[in-house]
Amino acid sequence: MESLLNKEMDDMEPIYLNDEWFFTKEYSKALLQTDYPEENLEQVRLPHSCKELPLHYFDESEYQMVCGYRRHLWVPKEWEGKILLLTIDGACHSAHLYVNGEPVGEHHCGYTAFTSDITSHIRFGEDNLITISVDSNEKQNIPPFGFVVDYMTYGGLTRDVYLEVKEKTYLEDVFIKTLLSDITDMGASGATSSRIRIAGSMFPESLVVRQYLYDGDRLITSYEAKADADEIQLTGTEVEIETWDITHPKLYRVETKLLAGEKELDSKKTKVGFRKAEFKADGFYLNEKKVKIRGLNRHQSYPYVGYAMPESMQKYDADILKKELGCNAVRTSHYPQSHYFVERCDEIGLLVFMEFPGWQHIGDEAWQKQAIQNEIEMITQYRNHPSIIMWGVRINESQDMEGFYKKTNAIAHELDDSRPTGGVRAHKKSQLLEDVYTYNDFVHDGQKPGCEPKKKVTPDMSKPYLISEYNGHMYPTKAFDWEEHRVQHALRHARVLDAVAGYEDIAGSFGWCMFDYNTHKDFGSGDRICYHGVMDMFRNPKLAALIYACQQEEEPVLELSSTMDIGEHPGCNRGDTYIFSNADAVRMYKNDVFIKEYVPSDSGYKNLKHGPILIDDFIGDEIKKNEPTFSRKQADIIKYGLNYTAIHGYGKYPLKVILGLLWCMVFRHMKMNDSVALYNKYIGDWGGTSTVYKFEAVKNGAVVKTIVKEPMKNMHLEVKTSSNALVEKNSYDVIELRIRALDEHDNQLYFFQEPLQVLVEGEAEVIGPSVVSFKGGMTGAYIRSTGRTGKVKVTLKNPQIDDVVLHFTAIGENRRQ
Ligand code: GAL
Repeated sequence: MESLLNKEMDDMEPIYLNDEWFFTKEYSKALLQTDYPEENLEQVRLPHSCKELPLHYFDESEYQMVCGYRRHLWVPKEWEGKILLLTIDGACHSAHLYVNGEPVGEHHCGYTAFTSDITSHIRFGEDNLITISVDSNEKQNIPPFGFVVDYMTYGGLTRDVYLEVKEKTYLEDVFIKTLLSDITDMGASGATSSRIRIAGSMFPESLVVRQYLYDGDRLITSYEAKADADEIQLTGTEVEIETWDITHPKLYRVETKLLAGEKELDSKKTKVGFRKAEFKADGFYLNEKKVKIRGLNRHQSYPYVGYAMPESMQKYDADILKKELGCNAVRTSHYPQSHYFVERCDEIGLLVFMEFPGWQHIGDEAWQKQAIQNEIEMITQYRNHPSIIMWGVRINESQDMEGFYKKTNAIAHELDDSRPTGGVRAHKKSQLLEDVYTYNDFVHDGQKPGCEPKKKVTPDMSKPYLISEYNGHMYPTKAFDWEEHRVQHALRHARVLDAVAGYEDIAGSFGWCMFDYNTHKDFGSGDRICYHGVMDMFRNPKLAALIYACQQEEEPVLELSSTMDIGEHPGCNRGDTYIFSNADAVRMYKNDVFIKEYVPSDSGYKNLKHGPILIDDFIGDEIKKNEPTFSRKQADIIKYGLNYTAIHGYGKYPLKVILGLLWCMVFRHMKMNDSVALYNKYIGDWGGTSTVYKFEAVKNGAVVKTIVKEPMKNMHLEVKTSSNALVEKNSYDVIELRIRALDEHDNQLYFFQEPLQVLVEGEAEVIGPSVVSFKGGMTGAYIRSTGRTGKVKVTLKNPQIDDVVLHFTAIGENRRQ
């Protein structure tokens, strides 16, 4: 409360009100009374989930309730005469706002913000009471509800709440577009073009809006226009700029000031990226260069707390998508997601396809009215993000509905004429009212081609075409599934990416999906999880994640599809073993003897720069070198037969192997026993000393990564931390620990499923249970700050593994509030 009083009056930044909330799972009108006994309520901080949940095996009714939040707000006397705007960034899914017991506003979408002018309800120089009831029941007649939904929808105040103190006349909205010309590799000429809405009661003659364009702290130009209407247009001077793109996401800063003479009434800061993003019949173009979109779908959910994660965690997901998975795009399926997430996409150059909330079902007129309201809020609240390249204005996978969708398209174009619309459908040749045909292509079933050609899907070849989903339910895969299943999952992702890359006229694709997610009873594997991710719920990578990771160049990738333990395979046949790497070459050694070097063009995935490479030789020149009694021809024939046996097992040989074997027997007097002995010597891994496989990834002539596969002897933990400090900004902060059990060569121990104790000491706490279990050799934990500054010690304990002790600092003082 004090902090509000100390706030400088000329500081126009929002005041975050994420602390000091009282919460109850049962909202009642009594909460509106000032003298309500608050000791009966729980003290919480935002973002907050109305119910902390288990990882899996729970019922969706657990988070459905009408819960209540209340908070005191001391408002200084000096603010009298100002306008007070309260924004609730995310209330899942319906909220009623009261100030000092009086109703102020309501909102019915959990995925967009709402702002209320609370001025007339405020008592200046006094304590005020804000109360919010939040309804997370799924029976409401609003999107995405009405039928089934393949994701849990959670509840609570899941994003920030903040207050803005304004003069009577203020900037209500600033929408900045960028205009580009003369685009070259070096940059372009650019200008901003803004639509500015002014709210208020006083419009003096001298009122102007002035904009300043900055590159960091350097002022590039400024320009102004008379503010003589409640909506004005302001076009900036054309200047030389660097363009924003996926490899160089250059951002500029625009400060928009509302001035009465030289008195500053209001100001707004907006980050802008100068870029031209266009979908054409033959693909997607960024700054006039063709870019194949390679993305994944993302839900905004996390273990235990659902949607309620603060800034750092939201941003971390964007980093994982771009830097670890090498994606250049994300679809925010199936709703607008946290501003922090999208802000990070702006910063790192990750393209965003954002859509309004919904899942297959279209409700009655009232429902549709709400959907349209959601669309308006999505576009007006997110349209300044350069990373967003398209609006999804069709309920995900819904049927054609001409009237409704004509409206959603018209609204999108009216609110933002700089971006195209898409509409995700699961139907071919359905009515195309959008600018881009966006289609969930699930044709690939392991056998059929990776995707359909454009002409089989779209009704209009002159319009652009984008694949908005693939795989997913076609092959659910758990991190702890057996090896061949996990490999198949990875290969399916490779096949679709390869097929899409092969079609010039497909703008790109978004795989389903980034990570496993909690879902309703109607979907998933019976434990309320859809195992559709290329990562698990903690964002630990499955094998399929490597297919994406290999397509980026920054981080060296080298992994095998197999642990090389033949007993994991039916009939002990090794089966196909693949190399996943983004290197220029991969060298294979067996017991330190060089066997073969593989290069990217050895991959059968011809359209991918770095597709999986099948290992077809476990012998190299060894027979030639070690068996002088064999001729070169005989050595080659035997090598072929042995390699064939290694992959496919004994028997069922093709003619080539049979004839080769016969030739050896007849002309070289080789006996059956000799071939068994050769097999044991050159292929079989049984017996005394273990076979050691080593692979080296070579880039620009140097070895950049090495992996070694041999039977494990010791284990240890790998812990990837999202940060080494908990730094409170607008709210509490969270660090994620992504934990894997590894052998002495850092190979993942896929079938380690044991418990891990997460002990937190000092100024932090663990979210969810303090004992977690490994799943497929991986697990995770979230550590939350407490608001206090100090040291944090986290100890990870399992009887089989040496303790891992991690130290973090927690900084609680840095609060903006
Ligand atoms: C799609 C749907 C997604 C998800 C996916 C699973 O039909 O749009 O939300 O359910 O299937 O593959």
